[in-house]
Amino acid sequence: MESMHADDFILNASSVEHSQQAEAIPEEARRQHAELSAQIERLRHEYYDALAASDGGEIELSESDAAYDALFEDLKQLEDQFPALVTSTSPTQTVGGSRTNTFAEVPHDIPMLSLDDVFSVEETHQWYDRCHNGLGVDNPQVCAEVKVDGLAISILYVDGVLTRAATRGDGRVGEDVTANVRTIANVPHRLTGQAIPRRIEVRGEVFFPTADFEAFNAARAKRGEKTFVNARNAAAGSLRQKDSTETAKRPLAMVCHGIGVYEAAADAPEEYILPDSQHAWYELLAGWGLPTSPYTRLISSHADIDEVISYYGAHRHELSHEIDGMVFKIDSRQYQASLGTTSRAPRWAAAYKYPPVEVHTRLLDIRTQVGRTGRVTPYAVMEKVLVAGSHVSSATLHNQDEVKRKGVLIGDMVILRKAGDVIPEILGPVEKLRDGSERAFVMPSHCPSCGAELAPAKDGDVDVRCPNQAHCPAQITQRLTFLGGRSAFDIEGLGEEAALALTQPELNRAEVISALIAGEPVLLAPTETEDLPPVVRVEAEELAERHHSELAALAEALLPPAQTPVLSSEADIFDLQAQDVRDLYVWKRAAFPQALREYYGVEESWRLVRAFWSTGKRLKGKDTFRKNQETRPTKDMLTMLEELEKAKTQPLWRVLNALSIRHVGPTSAQALADHFTSLEAIRAASVDELAQVEGVGQIVAQSVHDWFTVDWHHKIVQRWADSGVRMADEEKEALEQTLAGLTIVVSGSMPGYDREGAKAAIIARGAKAAGSVSKKTSLLVAGPGAGSKLAKAEALGVPVVDENAFDTLLEQGLEAVLAQ
Ligand code: IVH
Repeated sequence: MESMHADDFILNASSVEHSQQAEAIPEEARRQHAELSAQIERLRHEYYDALAASDGGEIELSESDAAYDALFEDLKQLEDQFPALVTSTSPTQTVGGSRTNTFAEVPHDIPMLSLDDVFSVEETHQWYDRCHNGLGVDNPQVCAEVKVDGLAISILYVDGVLTRAATRGDGRVGEDVTANVRTIANVPHRLTGQAIPRRIEVRGEVFFPTADFEAFNAARAKRGEKTFVNARNAAAGSLRQKDSTETAKRPLAMVCHGIGVYEAAADAPEEYILPDSQHAWYELLAGWGLPTSPYTRLISSHADIDEVISYYGAHRHELSHEIDGMVFKIDSRQYQASLGTTSRAPRWAAAYKYPPVEVHTRLLDIRTQVGRTGRVTPYAVMEKVLVAGSHVSSATLHNQDEVKRKGVLIGDMVILRKAGDVIPEILGPVEKLRDGSERAFVMPSHCPSCGAELAPAKDGDVDVRCPNQAHCPAQITQRLTFLGGRSAFDIEGLGEEAALALTQPELNRAEVISALIAGEPVLLAPTETEDLPPVVRVEAEELAERHHSELAALAEALLPPAQTPVLSSEADIFDLQAQDVRDLYVWKRAAFPQALREYYGVEESWRLVRAFWSTGKRLKGKDTFRKNQETRPTKDMLTMLEELEKAKTQPLWRVLNALSIRHVGPTSAQALADHFTSLEAIRAASVDELAQVEGVGQIVAQSVHDWFTVDWHHKIVQRWADSGVRMADEEKEALEQTLAGLTIVVSGSMPGYDREGAKAAIIARGAKAAGSVSKKTSLLVAGPGAGSKLAKAEALGVPVVDENAFDTLLEQGLEAVLAQ
């Protein structure tokens, strides 16, 4: 569109609709209009720049809102007087006249089409073959892009200035969200570079970067606000905020994937007038400062299609944003034009959709578990489903508030996904599938393990705890499991199963009794002279005649007496001998012996089995237990004993962490161990002395101090020390502080180190070992499986090296690895 110039008046081309009223505009009015518009634009930019930079905090502006409104009012009056001044770029037209969103309708000059979906590699090949046949061209080049899981956006730049942004809406008419889009950090307010077009409408996707999404949701949960089900919903919610200050608090980003209206600059060189391919467009857009995807590739065969689908399928969760598929576009614009579009979608593009990582399953029950510090947490028991490559049947629900916030009822069909592809998480119910039989979860008032009354540790805490820390079987089991774990003594063979056998061998006894009352047979352990394990069951006549309470007693009488646990505290773990567990049995559900299946008519049942010793070998071909087979400790048991022995010389921080002191984790344990070097010194320190250690706060200090005032805690320390556990770090030969003052994040696996060991090595050389990447991070060491931290580091420009550089880093410092 060109403006017509005259000596002392201007007739603006876009006021052609008002052509009846078209009139001469005095030069003074035109000058005033230009000046007011410029001032308003400047204030708007200042405002949105400040918002984008504020990260949700306070912002400072050179003019008050009232001054802005007054300028705006002046402009409106001027335009009322001279309607020909109203152009599509006038501030009165561009954001609906204010700093908030109007969601006014915005017709799309060129419709925003959708994409045709394909759901398999074969269908993608078929689409490519159709293009090939339609064009009569062999192997036409294809631009392969990731399908960003966000919201489509159209952004109009006039003479390089962001003028209007609209959602897709129904494809023909969208909503004006200009004010919100202006707060998106990577959307330029003004294009830069060569041959800035007269008008360009870029189309793309607004999304919520994965790493930021998790932090954002965590912060909302902490404030008791509803969390978003996924990054896409969060992006949609953020983009449709009435108040753009709210949008500015959300770290949205945009990526371009197409073009709408385009009018090149008058003097644009040839290649800017009509780029001849999709990828050439992206190069131009990037040259003007617009965000384009780093994941785009040019390909030209079935094999290439297979490769990108499988590559991004495997790596989709390592990208900086969620994707739900791949988009394949015939690259040549000429070919695109000749293939054309249907009313819904272009024929020259196809969207391959990955199978969903969110699945539906039935929530069968909500039960509670007791953690190692007594925290009682509800967890979901679900019908087993396959999600992102593994079977899932339970997921934590954190606390009763979380159950409420998610709005799930027992019996609901729920949406399940794997957070970060590892931890299963229930997102919420499918409410429309309810039939009225669902019931609400009620948090128990008493400990499910020991029966003690539950209470919050202090008023206002959401979590409730079992106060019976010394004797609650579940807490003892959990502490024992934890001390065997990777961040404590790291004892192979001492996991939850072993801990349960040692501390709660009769855990399933109640279920065994229920099974007997239900008429099921139960297998007891064979004695050394028996061929088959003896079977017990309640006789049918008894089942028919007796009352339930009598049956329970009858069933109980069929079982051997309940065993007392081998360990009643973690204090004795280092004294464990193979002989102590020779006759330890646990109740397990297992396949019924083949020879007895037909007679009893069952496939599986409860059975009493030796926990740590094996009951001889079965002879090949015979599904019977043989006589006189020597029983001996299992290999796992022997490994556990060896590992327990080795664990006695673990460094102090691991001992400290293994004590399950509330609020103490590996990082604070390392800080305390480094500073005090012996458990005795830590015990003797005052709260203030503890709190003064870098990396140890008041809460940790108080908790450590309080822990040492409890008698039975002393017994644990004493017993461990008596068994030879080293309670002080040996004099360290002074390690060279190669990493002094740096903040380093390690993610993924490091050769020769476990996670905590890698952290400890960094700390020992003077650096801070941070858990997450931020602008303050000096370096990310990314081993295999580094995931979203890698994406975040790349986004923030934090230097990254791989796991092979880790040893050099420790020995020679940061410069040495960056120089490599
Ligand atoms: S091209 C006419 N490219 O997917 C072509 N779309 O399911 C229209 N999307 O509405 C879009 N990533 O919002 C294109 N790399 C990509 C995309 C992409 C995500 C969205 C877009 C579109 C929807 C269709």
